[in-house]
Formats: sequence, structure tokens, C-alpha cells
Amino acid sequence: MVSADTLEPSVQPGPPSAEKPLLSVEGLTRVYGKRIGCADVSFELFPGEVLAVVGESGSGKTTLLNCISSRLAPTCGTVHYRMRDGASADIYKMSEAERRYLMRTDWGFVHQNPIDGLRMTVSAGANVGERLMAVGNRHYGNIRRAAIDWLARVEIGEDRVDDQPRTFSGGMRQRLQIARNLVTEPRLVFMDEPTGGLDVSVQARLLDLLRGLVSDLGLAVVVVTHDLAVARLLSDRMIVMKDGRVIEAGLTDRVLDDPRAPYTQLLVSSILQV
Ligand SMILES: Nc1ncnc2c1ncn2[C@@H]1O[C@H](COP(=O)(O)OP(=O)(O)OP(=O)(O)O)[C@@H](O)[C@H]1O
Ligand SMILES: [Mg+2]
Repeated sequence: MVSADTLEPSVQPGPPSAEKPLLSVEGLTRVYGKRIGCADVSFELFPGEVLAVVGESGSGKTTLLNCISSRLAPTCGTVHYRMRDGASADIYKMSEAERRYLMRTDWGFVHQNPIDGLRMTVSAGANVGERLMAVGNRHYGNIRRAAIDWLARVEIGEDRVDDQPRTFSGGMRQRLQIARNLVTEPRLVFMDEPTGGLDVSVQARLLDLLRGLVSDLGLAVVVVTHDLAVARLLSDRMIVMKDGRVIEAGLTDRVLDDPRAPYTQLLVSSILQV
């Protein structure tokens, strides 16, 4: 049984020693009856760090992401999050209200399918503004201005602010979902295959945009992808999963250029279709 942190402690990126992890995952396991979703996963994520979770279909990526983002209770194991005041909180020991507040403010969640992360029958501006209202903004003019600013940051023109996302293309919807998530300036964003449903040219542009935003905002991100090019472009560090377990972990360039586990070698050499 290996965990991401015990595999190769010597190459874990060296955060400043005073810096403490934003997210600490320990021994996380989720089973569905007799089936394993993910098993004994441990890792730490530091502020501003991007971690990619890769692996073939059914390897447990979404199960892990949902467990660490408090959307799916683990069977065992713990997830600790460092709150803005510096205190470390066990996310499954918080009250439901505290957890919901965290999800609306400090965290973002970008779904593969934008329909799952947007309200399709309200305007684009309202989709972004709603998150601001949820954290206490009440001034209509300010909310609208912030929404327009954010739409511009994701390359959606002001002339579309009153349109509903059902009239948007797939790429625009995904960009809108990103704006909706980032407007509250979260510290941690979870993404499940953020470019998954898009065609290749749209994917490339979205990835570029995401990379810029992540670095400008200093976001910490856990991004699930089966696409190693996405991991290469976005992440600092990655974990490779197979059958619910972490089989390799390390700096992204190291894992992709010099994979150690035979399974990762197959993944990288594209022999396996993921
Ligand atoms: N709701 C569920 N009920 C039963 N089994 C489930 C459920 N969700 C996932 N599983 C099982 O858990 C394992 C991990 O699934 P998961 O969806 O986390 O994988 P994944 O890596 O996200 O796959 P994909 O790349 O296809 O999205 C699989 O064997 C899957 O069949
Ligand atoms: Mg999945």
C-alpha cells in the first residue's frame, strides 16, 4: 500500500518551510458496496500549487475529487483544510452550513459538463453575480460591474451579459462556469476534466486561459484529467491512479519524462488508451 507522500519524499516540491499545506488528505478510502472507488489515498496540497490526478477510466479520479471537495463522504480517512484564519479544519467534522459556506466562498468546483455548474435559465451576468450575492454583496450596480469584468476576463463580451448560457457554445459555457467559480476569489478550485467535452481547438484556448488565471490569482487547484497534455500544461505535481490507488506521485515533469511505475510508463507511451 503506497501513498502519494511516501513514494518519493525527496522530490516533493519544497514549499517555504513556514508554509503549511492548504489541504491534507490522509488514508482516504471510498467504497461502493464491494467495489473500490478509491483506496488509501494520501497527499498534501500547498497554497498556489496545481495537482493533477490522472489515470484511466474507472481508476477513481472523480471519487477522490468528490471526497476531498466534501461532495461525497469517504468510507474512511480524513481531509483537513487550512481556513483563512490559519486553523486546520476536518471538513467532515464541520457543520453542513460551514461546509456550504466554504464551498460558496473559499472553494470552486468546475464540472466537466458546464450544465452541472451553471444555471441555464438565468443570464450569464446573473450566473456570475449570484456567487457574489451568496457572499453578501447586495449592491446591484457593483455586482453587475464585477460580473461584466469577469466575463471579459474569460473572453465573453459585455453584449452577452444578459443572454442565457443555453444560447452559448460549449467553450463559452465552460468559460462562464470558470468565471462563476472565480469571482469570489477562492483559494482552492477543484476541476473534473475541465476541457473534457470540448473539441481540440477550443480545448487549447481554454487551457491557455485557465493557466493564465491560475497563475494570476495564485490559485491552488486539484484537476482531474485523463489527458496527460492537460496535466503537463497546468500542473506542478501529479498523482497517477489505478484501481483506486495512487501508484505514482511526483513533480509533473519528472513523472512524464521519467515515469517509474510500469503502468505510468504505459500511460506516457500512449500504449494505454485512457
Ligand atoms: N455511484 C457509484 N456506485 C457504484 N460504483 C461506483 C459509483 N461511482 C463510481 N463507481 C465505481 O468506482 C470506481 C471509480 O470510479 P470513478 O468514477 O471515480 O472513476 P474515474 O477515474 O473518475 O473514471 P472516468 O475517467 O471514467 O470518469 C469505478 O469502478 C466505478 O465503477
Ligand atoms: Mg471521472
